[in-house]
Amino acid sequence: MSLLLKFTTLKITGNIMSITPTYSEKQTFDLGKKFAEKLQGGEVIGLTGDLGAGKTVFIKGLAKGLKIEQIINSPTFVLMKLYKINSKFKNQNAKLQCKIQNLVHVDAYRLNSSQELINVGIEDYLEKKNAIVVIEWGEKVKDILPKDKISVKIKFGGKKNERVIRIK
Ligand SMILES: Nc1ncnc2c1ncn2[C@@H]1O[C@H](COP(=O)(O)OP(=O)(O)OP(=O)(O)O)[C@@H](O)[C@H]1O
Ligand SMILES: [Mg+2]
Repeated sequence: MSLLLKFTTLKITGNIMSITPTYSEKQTFDLGKKFAEKLQGGEVIGLTGDLGAGKTVFIKGLAKGLKIEQIINSPTFVLMKLYKINSKFKNQNAKLQCKIQNLVHVDAYRLNSSQELINVGIEDYLEKKNAIVVIEWGEKVKDILPKDKISVKIKFGGKKNERVIRIK
């Protein structure tokens, strides 16, 4: 039975949206993909979790859910990467024509200050209805993120390849 069945309680504006264990890269990818279907535009998503936890894997799934076909790599050495989204992409859950045009992927791991992120233009995308912003190591730049950002916390579980992913 799919783990994603446990994910159906997701609500973007609620408190805890879901706590989901995954046991493979694919399951985390699929969780990110499913999560993307709930997005409306303007969301800022901070991802936390140790090195190798699966933040990038989750974002790859999220990008797939937004119908981005480009390969998503960790943007560690460029800080911020912008992916264009097909404007005709239909958000299947909301049954709305989706206005999201940009996925912005940030990796804040090597940042010394939030100002560096401002310098590369993050404010053009933060909380803009036509953009989704996902930030690995989001806690490092939380001073410039909106209070109502979505938090995705990935922890290593006790079993082999287990991760526990809390979205809130
Ligand atoms: N349940 C799982 N979910 C996600 N990844 C898993 C899982 N089990 C094993 N893995 C492996 O863990 C690694 C996760 O790598 P990923 O680059 O997504 O981590 P990250 O959190 O982005 O790390 P970094 O902080 O270095 O950017 C991959 O090699 C993946 O195959
Ligand atoms: Mg990563």
